[in-house]
Amino acid sequence: MTVAPPNLMQQNRSIVLIGFMGTGKSAVGRALAGRLQWRHRDTDTEIEREAGCSIADCFAAEGEAAFRQRETTMLARLLTDLPSERLILSTGGGTPLRLENSTLLQQGGTVIWLQASPEAILSRIGLNLSSRPLLADYLDNPKERIEDLLAARSAHYAALADFALDTSKCAGPLRAAEEIISLLGQQQE
Ligand code: S3P
Repeated sequence: MTVAPPNLMQQNRSIVLIGFMGTGKSAVGRALAGRLQWRHRDTDTEIEREAGCSIADCFAAEGEAAFRQRETTMLARLLTDLPSERLILSTGGGTPLRLENSTLLQQGGTVIWLQASPEAILSRIGLNLSSRPLLADYLDNPKERIEDLLAARSAHYAALADFALDTSKCAGPLRAAEEIISLLGQQQE
């Protein structure tokens, strides 16, 4: 059942997954939670539940600024209102961009930056491009858009990350979860 290395179990910190769309934050988060038997929460899913609509519909109805505010409120709720509960938290691709959020994320747990090449990102989300508000207007040149956003965001991700893992080099979410457990297990050695 619970098979995390002892030093990870002793840290008493949540694990926060950050990174661009399509890098596997949700799938790896679920796999990690199953492997460690910890609770998993996904900010986008929680926002959808609370708002009663999909992220794309939230963007369309309320605009990006309102979505970003929902994101900050949700993060604070998940990471600081329940500080004694250790979780695996999957965030949205734009979550680390707000200063307020990055403070919450860093204080909230060990931050893992999931990475993937633009090609891998595109192939993972290719069929769902139109449901991604930040990509939907770039259906003619999505790879260029992904590269531009990655260039603008990578420094934000890097500034926050305790560890980085390229999921395009892992054979699936379970393997990525194992890599993370191993990275965390080595943290204090
Ligand atoms: C966003 C990423 C999405 C979602 C929203 C904005 C972004 O989450 O939060 O569409 O700014 O990159 P995923 O990274 O889970 O797709």
